[in-house]
Amino acid sequence: MITTFTKYKYNYLPLSVYRRLDGKIVIITGGASGIGAESARLFTDHGAKVVIVDVEEELGQNVAVSIGEDKASFYRCDVTNETEVANAVKFTVDKHGKLDVLFSNAGVCEPPGSILDLNLERFDRTMAVNVRGAAAFIKHAARAMVENGTRGSIVCTTSVAAEIGGEGLYGYTASKHGLVGLIKSVCGDLGKHGIRINGVAPFAVATAMTSHDEETAKQMEEYCEANGILKGVVLKARHVAEAAMFLVSDESVYISGQNLVVDGGFCVVRPT
Ligand SMILES: NC(=O)c1ccc[n+]([C@@H]2O[C@H](COP(=O)([O-])OP(=O)(O)OC[C@H]3O[C@@H](n4cnc5c(N)ncnc54)[C@H](O)[C@@H]3O)[C@@H](O)[C@H]2O)c1
Repeated sequence: MITTFTKYKYNYLPLSVYRRLDGKIVIITGGASGIGAESARLFTDHGAKVVIVDVEEELGQNVAVSIGEDKASFYRCDVTNETEVANAVKFTVDKHGKLDVLFSNAGVCEPPGSILDLNLERFDRTMAVNVRGAAAFIKHAARAMVENGTRGSIVCTTSVAAEIGGEGLYGYTASKHGLVGLIKSVCGDLGKHGIRINGVAPFAVATAMTSHDEETAKQMEEYCEANGILKGVVLKARHVAEAAMFLVSDESVYISGQNLVVDGGFCVVRPT
């Protein structure tokens, strides 16, 4: 067996035990479920201390307890409420002394339908969570980073729906395109403070957002396998968490303003 070794930070540790987020203090919004919960597990495995932020109190507490309360804690916060957002950031800085990483991942998706029947209340709600909520968290997390002189990293979960349009999910698609616009425009301002901001854009993943039980999750994965470009891999929350980890870690130290698409080529290939 060939083992690769790294000299970075640690002397001659196998890459498999190299902890890529050692000492980092991380907020993960939407961390009670799906991609956020998987990221909380992966990031803490790599040495981070994580504050899970979500409206789902019981789920979020359970994720924190399952990880271990020395590594993860839960803070109840609705990202659409700026006071709660500011308090979540304050809780994190008071508890850990600093904030290195914001993974702004909380999101909602409305049921598909025709533009002719667009429900504007649902549209507003989707924009409020997916764009306004991310903007509020970026604002308060960046303030904490600037005040502490932290050269932090912010990653927002966008979507393939930020790259291409699909039929039916008008609020969701508009919100994710808007989020990429926010990332690009914030990149310049935060760059002055040494803070990076990027997006991670998953193809469809079986989570609570896309399926409600094992059977529907299986059906969704079968659909993705049949319609995906890259064969032999089914996209899991873990794969998205790994891409997000690259963006929040120092391994991507000169990458900012990008939207890293995790879609096996779906957005760039038109099947013939
Ligand atoms: N699952 C997919 O196929 C897919 C594909 C592309 C992008 N995404 C994006 O990934 C992110 C995570 O979604 P997921 O698939 O893990 O779904 P999920 O439903 O499992 O997780 C979303 C989390 O966000 C939380 N949340 C919703 N509204 C909130 C609010 N107002 N304040 C705080 N928390 C709130 C939910 O309670 C939930 O825990 C979302 O931004 C979603 O748009 C998902």
